[in-house]
Amino acid sequence: MKIFHKKSDLIDALSKLRESKSSIGFVPTMGALHSGHLSLIKKSLQNNKITVVSIFINPTQFNNTADLTAYPKNLNEDCELLESLSNDIIVFVPEIQEIYKDGMLTNEYDFNGLDKYMEGEFRNNHFQAVATVVELLLDIVEPNSAYFGEKDYQQLKIISCIKTNVNIIGCSTLRDKNGLALSSRNNRISLSSIEIASNIFKNLNFVKSNFNKLSIENLTEKVTLNINLFDQMKLEYFVIADEDKLAPTTVVNVKKKYRAFIAVFVDGIRLIDNIALN
Ligand code: PAF
Repeated sequence: MKIFHKKSDLIDALSKLRESKSSIGFVPTMGALHSGHLSLIKKSLQNNKITVVSIFINPTQFNNTADLTAYPKNLNEDCELLESLSNDIIVFVPEIQEIYKDGMLTNEYDFNGLDKYMEGEFRNNHFQAVATVVELLLDIVEPNSAYFGEKDYQQLKIISCIKTNVNIIGCSTLRDKNGLALSSRNNRISLSSIEIASNIFKNLNFVKSNFNKLSIENLTEKVTLNINLFDQMKLEYFVIADEDKLAPTTVVNVKKKYRAFIAVFVDGIRLIDNIALN
């Protein structure tokens, strides 16, 4: 496995490999890899000759320094996991200055309202920061395809609208045996609260089963009650939005596809999840 810290070295290495017309798959990550990341990387390995994985904790997309500082870092374990998949993976682990030459600035994107609600509403400037770093990374790696998880569905939609020549591929969410969506943040939650956190997915499934039976208002009330019933959990938002525009709704148009989106603090750690409803 080759690890690059300098973007010029990575660009050189990739340009040689590109000469053999090999397709490049790219999986950007912030490290603390888990089976969810590995499933994206496996997909890239299946569909491309070359797979590049970046490990870069992007400071600009965090809304508070405590969350940034607490973000798990374990490069050795990450590399072992990557090696267990393949020796051919190319890993890019840049320092902040490698990515942000002129200071940690974010670009101004117009996402056509996709960033207005849910994560965009509760995390100021988050998607401008995510899109900026993803675009910077895509410019360095110049992959044919890049892989993102559906757990961050809003992120996936927003990245799909950045103008690049890259094929953006969404991959389904991986869950633990109780249904909790895999996330690097889960490690920061106590075992007993992890059990309780499985109620997030139970509630999403309840909403899916009752989507055609109960009103959206009624579903929202029930989810709010069910989640806040537990001392360890606090609901930040529950929203049903159409998949296309990501605009919350209280009325259902049978011609549209909908998803339920949720953000919950468990032991003070913020978790998100979503489910397709129809
Ligand atoms: O989903 C993530 O891990 C991050 O938002 C990403 C896409 C790697 C950008 O920093």
